[in-house]
Amino acid sequence: MKKILITGALGQIGSELTLLMRKIYGADNVVISDIKKEGPAEVIDGGPFEIIDVTDGKRIFEVVKQYQVDHIVHLAALLSAVGESKPNLCWDVNMGGLYNCLEVCREVGTTMFTPSSIAAFGPSTPPDNTPQDTIQRPTTMYGVTKVAGELLCDYYFQRFGVDSRGVRYPGLISYQTLPGGGTTDYAVHIYYDALKHGRYTSFIAEGTKMDMMYMPDALEAVIQLSEADGSQLIHRNAFNITAMSFAPEQLASEIKKHIPSFTLDYDVDPVRQAIADSWPNSLDDSDARAEWGWNPKYDLTAMTSEMLDKLREKLNIK
Ligand code: NAD
Ligand code: SER
Repeated sequence: MKKILITGALGQIGSELTLLMRKIYGADNVVISDIKKEGPAEVIDGGPFEIIDVTDGKRIFEVVKQYQVDHIVHLAALLSAVGESKPNLCWDVNMGGLYNCLEVCREVGTTMFTPSSIAAFGPSTPPDNTPQDTIQRPTTMYGVTKVAGELLCDYYFQRFGVDSRGVRYPGLISYQTLPGGGTTDYAVHIYYDALKHGRYTSFIAEGTKMDMMYMPDALEAVIQLSEADGSQLIHRNAFNITAMSFAPEQLASEIKKHIPSFTLDYDVDPVRQAIADSWPNSLDDSDARAEWGWNPKYDLTAMTSEMLDKLREKLNIK
């Protein structure tokens, strides 16, 4: 990977991945892009930035040729809750954008990393210790695009030799950029509200377990899998990865260790609750561990301690 293009770079993952990749590969070698112009100055001004709407395949091709890109990290997508409110747009952006990137890879010989999600599973999937290879019948448009996307990436690999790789991310927790409209977003908002108000009202019900991960581990997965020896990969699109699994009340108890007066109550959103209920409780990520050395560093305790410290600093709360 000498020249990298990141799509959807101003989102929750991209804004942090940009800074990490610039450190590793050099600022001039990481071309970032998004459909919007607004984002943190250090992300937008720290290296090449281009406006790309991923539904416009010609524009992706143009930028890839202009910068001689040899690896695309394709992040532009609509997430689960937004996807349910705009299913047509979700299909167009998630499938159209992925197809366009794969076509550019095929034509130019570019490699690609693109994330799938726990949303690629559905209510008929075994919910506990969910295997790598299992039933995938999701009931959301977002999930449909993720399964179809995994299949499309595998097709391009088998048919055209396009080297694309991906992971099924769980809910990602971070303090720099807010999440973009998913079902797991409660697990980020809770930290902000704990510090600002000492209380949080969860839109996800007590007892609802989902897989989660702290952003530094999620970023490490991009680098590690993109650089992994392809000959060692049995799976490609996409690997189960996880770092922890918890329900809202377990996250609240961990926060209470730092803020003893913190309280959690519930006002369940039926749409996002139905989505959460259709997803696994916990994934089996042993194939990722065996094939490319996946080994997350943060558990719930370590993540909570760092999230609260970093957010105190960011929000200027003593
Ligand atoms: P996000 O919503 O925070 O960011 C997505 C970015 O894509 C935004 O900056 C948005 O402006 C941009 N975008 C939207 N439509 C576009 C278009 N037509 N053309 C170009 N850019 C467009 O999302 P994220 O959390 O950073 O997720 C990135 C990827 O990771 C997605 O594929 C998502 O499905 C996947 N993922 C994320 C999570 C998570 O918890 N954040 C979990 C599982 C999978
Ligand atoms: N965090 C994502 C969402 O909730 C999972 O893909 O949509």
